[in-house]
Amino acid sequence: MRPPVPSDKFTFGLWTIGYGGTDPFGGPTRPPLDVVHAVEKLAELGAYGLTFHDDDLFPFGSSDAERQTQIDRLKGVLDATGLKIPMVTTNLFSAPVFKDGGFTSNDRRVRRFALRKALRQLELGVELGAETFVMWGGREGAEYDAAKDVRTALERYREAVNLMGQYAIDKGYSIRFAIEPKPNEPRGDILLPTVGHALAFIDSLEHPELVGLNPEVGHEQMAGLNFAAGVAQALYHGKLFHIDLNGQRGIKYDQDLVFGHGDLHNAFALVDLLENGGPGGGPSYDGPRHFDFKPSRTEDETGVWQSAAANMRTYLLLKERTEAFRADPEVQQALGDARVPELATPTLGADESYDELLADPSAFEDFDTSAYFGGRGCGFVRLQQLATEHLMGAR
Ligand code: GCO
Ligand code: MN
Ligand code: MN
Repeated sequence: MRPPVPSDKFTFGLWTIGYGGTDPFGGPTRPPLDVVHAVEKLAELGAYGLTFHDDDLFPFGSSDAERQTQIDRLKGVLDATGLKIPMVTTNLFSAPVFKDGGFTSNDRRVRRFALRKALRQLELGVELGAETFVMWGGREGAEYDAAKDVRTALERYREAVNLMGQYAIDKGYSIRFAIEPKPNEPRGDILLPTVGHALAFIDSLEHPELVGLNPEVGHEQMAGLNFAAGVAQALYHGKLFHIDLNGQRGIKYDQDLVFGHGDLHNAFALVDLLENGGPGGGPSYDGPRHFDFKPSRTEDETGVWQSAAANMRTYLLLKERTEAFRADPEVQQALGDARVPELATPTLGADESYDELLADPSAFEDFDTSAYFGGRGCGFVRLQQLATEHLMGAR
């Protein structure tokens, strides 16, 4: 397998490779990672870019001078390595002031502060050339039903996203916004918990065209949902603005494993969709392939870089396997037998209306539904086995 190259558009959050191992049961197991070193290592590994929350680069509460020092250090290493900043985001979840959320805190003073913090990071993102501003509202939610009026909270969320969008329009910025759904953790229940909830919310905005999604593998899988299917729906609505790739093993806490170190079949389906699901069989998405993973706290720094490299290598291997899957004549035959291409034919004919449908005996009176009992198998299992064999490198 060839090594990753910047044109693969692999990106990493500073908080991912910088994760020190803190979890609810223990502190860090690794020392902090400096941003300059992190960017140098990512460039060496063949990544395209880095993404970050304001607080990843300069700690919450930094003075203007401290903040600027870190921005200058980042800019220096970006110039030296050629790494890009395609996405930025704001941390509205770590500081105690955000214990009840940022944009949807019951406390209005906190909401106003959150907006100021987000606008400041938006400005920095634009300055660094970011195309996407991610909004992950991990603290926007509640543990107790009476504690949060959900409809009013959605209205405040809407107010915040509308304000951010209007600000970008007024300033002439081309940056777009991407909402990242998650069902729970850290809040007991988070607002906009899934791709579907977020899509409906986006439709309610003043400028829905500015806002799309940043779906994450683990977040949909935490809700028991099929991630590749959710991404397909986001693509269908033109809303796949960004993507967070990682691995998750079932319905439990957010594991943030390496991409593919979870539901490998679904990862295969996802890469197939992203790389071969576009018109004519090309890519359906051309944005960054962003890894939002956590190098396990069992690892030292060597393990951190092995984990980072593993994300990219697994993605490229899956890309290779899905291309072989699509090119296999037996797969093409099986797809045809399973009538997968037939779904593209509209159910009614070009000039047909319900009148013609009602007058068509072949659609009803003469249609032999009994043939579907004990016959007319779909052949889907054969297809899945072919996918499995390609995935395993057996074909
Ligand atoms: C999580 C989220 C975050 C966001 C990040 C960017 O579950 O912790 O995935 O990692 O992606 O805050 O907005
Ligand atoms: Mn996550
Ligand atoms: Mn994420």
